[in-house]
Amino acid sequence: MEKLHINLDEKSYDIFIEKGIFEEVGKYISKVYKKKKIVVVTDTNVDRLYGDKLLRNLQNSGYTAVKVVFNAGEENKNFDILTEVYEKIIDSGIKRGDLLIAFGGGVVGDLAGFAASTIYRGIDFIQIPTTLLAQVDSSVGGKVAVDTTRGKNLVGSFYQPKVVIIDPEFLKTLDKREVRSGMAEVIKYGVIYDIEFFDYLLGKEDLKGFMADIKKIIKKCCEIKAKIVEKDELDIGIRMILNFGHTLGHAIEKYYNYTKYTHGEAISIGMYEITRLGEKLGITKAGESDKIKQILKKYNLPIEDEVKLEDLIEIMKTDKKNISGILNFIFLSEIGKVEIKKVTEEEIANKLLK
Ligand code: GLY
Repeated sequence: MEKLHINLDEKSYDIFIEKGIFEEVGKYISKVYKKKKIVVVTDTNVDRLYGDKLLRNLQNSGYTAVKVVFNAGEENKNFDILTEVYEKIIDSGIKRGDLLIAFGGGVVGDLAGFAASTIYRGIDFIQIPTTLLAQVDSSVGGKVAVDTTRGKNLVGSFYQPKVVIIDPEFLKTLDKREVRSGMAEVIKYGVIYDIEFFDYLLGKEDLKGFMADIKKIIKKCCEIKAKIVEKDELDIGIRMILNFGHTLGHAIEKYYNYTKYTHGEAISIGMYEITRLGEKLGITKAGESDKIKQILKKYNLPIEDEVKLEDLIEIMKTDKKNISGILNFIFLSEIGKVEIKKVTEEEIANKLLK
């Protein structure tokens, strides 16, 4: 059993990581929740595979649990679905003081977490992430949100879960492409924070070798994320480094209307391109983009796309991190170290495009 603690004063919580922990999930919930009623919010994919099992596991631990299920897919992380989820939670008799479980990948964690942060002005929730991306990133740190027609995650809040329970066994039923998508975020931690972890990932022979060590890898990622979030919960300082490759990546995702690439694939291109740009501008040590290319290719992640930087600029202007025409770009100094640079829209046009 791996246990991490994220220290955020009265909002502190534990992260438990273990293969098979799902079977005894009630034991870990009882550490943070003493009442009986629970609502599980999940999507159709996770429900099909694990929904009834979770209800049974909860019932075996003495809980009364109900399920609220919405259609899987990022396109459903919106206000219409959120309203349906609120209404189903209310109709199921869940009250303030009861518990919500966000059970699924990043979309479920974001939407269910946002529902928890707002329904009855906030009820406690826990995260049981089922995808690699959610296990190494989105379930930890309290970012919850829904999309609007103007962009992703534009309405949300910071709302910390009471506990995060991570079972790597869920990854056995995860689509290979989704595993690769999560890999991009795993690699990101090595690139931005820990050269030894980067070298370790580079040294793995293939995805099979990677999966053999998955518990250790998830723990490492959560450890790095916890350290960063502890320093900057509200994303106004160091937490921004977690967005390495994301400003370009989000723009690429949006340019293709979220159809061509998964989030991780777009971030992969974003990480490589921003490193090349950093080298061109003399910010990044020469040769680092080749190392990033090598590791991304090893895990079959894309590094390039024909879209022009010019075409991404307009999209970047609507990035929610654009504050009064200034974007914080995360540049690599060298593997394991990044710097945050404020770049104005004019500089983007005059320097980055040249
Ligand atoms: N996924 C980036 C963050 O949680 O800040």
